[in-house]
Amino acid sequence: MLTINENYLKLPGSYLFSDIAKKVAAYQKAHPEREIIRLGIGDVTQPIAPAIVEALHRAVDEMGDAGTFRGYAPDLGYDFLREAIVENDYRAWGCAVEADEIFVSDGAKSDCGNIQEIFGPDCRIAVCDPVYPVYVDSNVMAGRAGTYDPATGKWSRVIYMPCTAENGFVPELPKERPDLIYLCVPNNPTGTALTRDQLAVWVNYANENGAVILYDAAYEAYITEQDVPHSIYEISGARTCAVEFRSFSKKAGFTGLRLGFTVVPRDLTCGGTALHGLWARRHGTKFNGAPYIVQRAGEAVYSAEGKRQVEAQVACYMENARVILQGLKEADCTVFGGVNSPYIWLKTPEGMTSWQFFDFLLENANVVGTPGSGFGPSGEGYFRLTAFGTAENTARAMERMRKVLGRPKSFS
Ligand code: MLT
Repeated sequence: MLTINENYLKLPGSYLFSDIAKKVAAYQKAHPEREIIRLGIGDVTQPIAPAIVEALHRAVDEMGDAGTFRGYAPDLGYDFLREAIVENDYRAWGCAVEADEIFVSDGAKSDCGNIQEIFGPDCRIAVCDPVYPVYVDSNVMAGRAGTYDPATGKWSRVIYMPCTAENGFVPELPKERPDLIYLCVPNNPTGTALTRDQLAVWVNYANENGAVILYDAAYEAYITEQDVPHSIYEISGARTCAVEFRSFSKKAGFTGLRLGFTVVPRDLTCGGTALHGLWARRHGTKFNGAPYIVQRAGEAVYSAEGKRQVEAQVACYMENARVILQGLKEADCTVFGGVNSPYIWLKTPEGMTSWQFFDFLLENANVVGTPGSGFGPSGEGYFRLTAFGTAENTARAMERMRKVLGRPKSFS
C-alpha cells in the first residue's frame, strides 16, 4: 500500500516565512495603497557586487564556448573555490582546515536541513530556543523529534536550551545528554553571539560526551567584536566534534544565486566511522554540484576587489543595524543583537504577544518583522527586525515605528 512519510503531518502549519509572506500578501491585497516596508525575512537588498558580476559574465562566456564549456561540476566543488575558501576563511584565521574537507553546496539552508540524514534515527538533538526553524523541522521530517505539544510549543524528544535576556542569550549545558547540538553563531534570530571562551565550553562538552556540534556560521561576515570567533575551528578540539556551515547569501548577497559550503573535518568520527565519508557519499548521490558560473562568482568574493566590495556592503547593513538599534532605544524598546549580526531582537511591548505585535506593526506602521514565537517557545515576547533593508527604508521604518510606539521624532 502506498503510504506517505507521516512525520510531515506532524509539522504544525507551514514554514514560518511562508506564513508571514501569506499574511503580508493578504494585507497588501486589502490595502493596495499602503506601502509596506519588509524587515521580516533576512533577505538582502543590495545588488551583486561589480567584481562578482564580472566573474559571472566571464563564466557565462566560457559556458557558451565549446573550448571552455563545462558540464557537471565536481560534486564536492571545484578546487579553485575550495582552495580560495580554505585560504581566506580558515588559514587566514589560524584554523587547520584542508580543501578536501570543504563541501560546496547551493547554500547553508540545504546543508543544515540535510546533515541530519547521516545520523541515526534515535539521535537526540539539542537546539537553542529560539532557533532557526530548519534545524527542528528537518528532524521532525526524519521522525527524530517525537510528538508536538501545542500547549508548550515543544517536541517531546528535542532538548531545548532557552536563550533569553535572563541568561544573556548564552545556552546552558543541557541536563539530558544530546547527540547532536545545533549552534548558530552569530545567532539567528537573537542577533547575539558567543565568545571564544563560551564556545570552548561547548567544544569540550561535545568531546567529553561524544556529541557532534552542528555549527551554523552563516552570519560570520557580520562579526565586529574581537572575542567572537569567526569559525568553530578557532577553538581547540573542534575538529573532533564539529561540522561547520557557511553561506555566501548574507556575506555577499547570494540569496538568489545560491552558494554555501560545509566543513566536515576528516578526524570527526562517530562510533569509529568518519562523517566525512558519509557526507561525501550523500553529497555525491543527491547533489550534482553548484553551478560553475556561481562557483566562479564565489571565487570572486575572495579577490581583492571582491573582498573590498562585499565588506562595504556588509558595512552598509551594519549601519542599518545601528540605525535600528538607536531608533528602538529612543522609542524606549529593550533591544539586543545588531552588533555582530544583521538581526535586532527586541522585547514586545508589555502585554503584547509576538504575533500581536506583528499584526500591530503591520497595520499601524506597515512594517513587517518576524514574531519571536515563530522561532520557538522562548521567542515569545520578542520580535526580530533585519538590517538587510535599504538604508532609506530602514530609516523610514524606524520613523514609522517611533510614531506608533509613541514618540514621534526623526532620527534618520
Ligand atoms: C531568516 O530570515 O531567518 C533567513 O533569511 C532564513 C534563511 O536564511 O534561510
